[in-house]
Amino acid sequence: MESTLVKKEYSDKVIKPKNLYIESYGCAMNFADSEVVASILTQNGYATTNVEEDADVILINTCSIRDNAEQRIKHRLIHLRANKKRNNELVIGILGCMAERLKKNLLEDEKLVDIVAGPDSYRDLPKLLDELEDGHKAINVILSLEETYAEISPIRLNSNGVTAFVSIMRGCDNMCSFCVVPFTRGRERSRSAESIINEVKELSVLGYKEVTLLGQNVDSYLWFGGGPKKEFNKLSIEEQEQSINFAKLLEMVALIDPNMRIRFSTSHPKDITDDVLFTMAKYVNICKYVHLPAQSGSSRVLELMNRNYSREWYMGKVNRIREIMPNCGISCDIISGFCTETEADHAETLSLIELSQFDFSYMYKYSERPGTMAARKFADDVSEDDKGKRLQEIIQIQNSVSKQKNAARVGKVLRVLIEGYSKKSEDDLKGRCDENMVVVFPKENYKAGQYVDVVIERSSTTTLVGRALNLVLTL
Ligand code: SAH
Ligand code: SF4
Ligand code: F3S
Repeated sequence: MESTLVKKEYSDKVIKPKNLYIESYGCAMNFADSEVVASILTQNGYATTNVEEDADVILINTCSIRDNAEQRIKHRLIHLRANKKRNNELVIGILGCMAERLKKNLLEDEKLVDIVAGPDSYRDLPKLLDELEDGHKAINVILSLEETYAEISPIRLNSNGVTAFVSIMRGCDNMCSFCVVPFTRGRERSRSAESIINEVKELSVLGYKEVTLLGQNVDSYLWFGGGPKKEFNKLSIEEQEQSINFAKLLEMVALIDPNMRIRFSTSHPKDITDDVLFTMAKYVNICKYVHLPAQSGSSRVLELMNRNYSREWYMGKVNRIREIMPNCGISCDIISGFCTETEADHAETLSLIELSQFDFSYMYKYSERPGTMAARKFADDVSEDDKGKRLQEIIQIQNSVSKQKNAARVGKVLRVLIEGYSKKSEDDLKGRCDENMVVVFPKENYKAGQYVDVVIERSSTTTLVGRALNLVLTL
């Protein structure tokens, strides 16, 4: 009797699935999580749509990293609430880091949403959506020590069919003093190597040509059978023998399909090892590119940030990367105006950018986040004006380094994986070279998913423009 009921419910849902629209903000991990959410909900009778107006359920996967990220999402929610007035049946849910940070305040004070689900509670979404039908608002913001959504095969949303993200770990144990992530994403845990390998194999079979392995700190990946992060020397002998660190995982992934490019993000300067760098150098299909956020060029500020490295250590890593892989692309994240930062500290950041010769950087003004160590212990004492002025100087110096580095690529032949049409014209294709610079060239008869050798003819701060010479069949 019970089983017929279940079957009936299931078949009703199959006949008329509810439409789900997911909108993602923040880092790549959030975009990858949205694909896990899509997978969980499509297995529970929902169908994804790209058309917001067709949605029965709108889920917004949110970011808390800076105040302006949250403000943007709040404006979006206010706009959506107006739509809800027109369609009372519409369900609006908030997922991700802002859901975790603001918890039930989003339901009570702001009354903007029906569902609040933190990053570790997505398996619960079908149940939370069902609870709404009884007229309750629904919330789950419990963080987990174990959840990695390991065996869930993500549904690729807005995919170009060429590049995909694969999440290899969750959470962060680093406690950088400015950062909200350890509070919104919880403790660090690694996903099983087997499930990562299986996901990459699936992507290869589907014709994907590039995967980016994702984690807040990929270099501390360690699979030893599951559970919260442990240091290698705290593992039992048996666990040590079976354990897989990031260098090993990278090698296992690279061996799956020699024609599939492998990237990863983000590396923490204190944790990236020679083993990882030698593995990168050994395999043609591991892209020669490292995103290595410095945050500041002043050792004094780095200490307050709790980054666990000095300016000299950081510069040492940059030199080591270039010693092992001379042409390796390196990018950076920089924060201007962190607590107590002086003009002299700022000058050290400018010189770090100049000396490190980053290909590009993501650059931000410091934004105090409630609950972080910096918010509790230090005054946010650099004025908005100074933060802005310093940021402009940082951007200016980075732009001039990027421009020079790109100009030096003119005349070179770079191998590019084609991702699709260029932003400006359907007569041109765009892709990225190994070192992660965007390359644009006339389409001719080439197609997305192919590798081509492109001779670079012109350059700007952000883009290389050239002409394809030939198709490349094996990397
Ligand atoms: N896990 C990565 C970065 C995650 S957050 C790492 O450790 O490098 C992405 C970037 O946002 C950070 O590198 C930092 O530059 C910036 N960021 C984080 N918190 C910030 C804050 N409170 N104000 C301004 N920028 C911040
Ligand atoms: Fe935040 Fe630091 Fe963790 Fe990166 S490593 S997510 S900056 S706490
Ligand atoms: Fe933002 Fe959360 Fe990522 S705060 S940057 S979405 S981990």
